[in-house]
Amino acid sequence: MAATVIVAELGRGKLVGFAEADLRPFADGCRSSPVGYLEGWYVAPELRRTGIGRALVGAAEDWARDLGCHEMASDAEVANASSQLAHKALGYSEVHRLVHFRRDLPAAKLKRET
Ligand SMILES: CC(C)(COP(=O)(O)OP(=O)(O)OC[C@H]1O[C@@H](n2cnc3c(N)ncnc32)[C@H](O)[C@@H]1OP(=O)(O)O)[C@@H](O)C(=O)NCCC(=O)NCCS
Repeated sequence: MAATVIVAELGRGKLVGFAEADLRPFADGCRSSPVGYLEGWYVAPELRRTGIGRALVGAAEDWARDLGCHEMASDAEVANASSQLAHKALGYSEVHRLVHFRRDLPAAKLKRET
């Protein structure tokens, strides 16, 4: 599926932020398919809270809309409170929380022959 990276440039060649987006066939809480998905979003610390993040997401949303999407989705770590607040300020609503699990797989058992 399609993907894009939008960068914010300050002066000549000084990159200060990016938004990475792609299309997903489905996303939690969404009612349409495909949906635009914000895979990555970053702004240099010294330039945060100046509107760059909003502009980057707006460009990612325009990209998804141009590809026929009606919804945009994203995620954030549970502990990343500032990202959650920024998402909400941009009009995103929380739809789901997920707990991840893992375990080591034990070595394969030998098959017993009878
Ligand atoms: C999340 C991030 C990209 C936001 O970028 P930004 O340039 O600061 O965002 P903006 O200045 O465009 O702010 C967008 C809106 O979010 C709000 N916002 C941003 N950071 C916020 C914070 N820490 N607390 C509360 N609101 C916040 C702004 O007030 C603004 O809303 P407004 O226009 O109504 O005032 C930036 O904080 C960042 O790079 N964080 C570290 C990486 C990260 O966590 N990325 C997200 C991974 S899910």
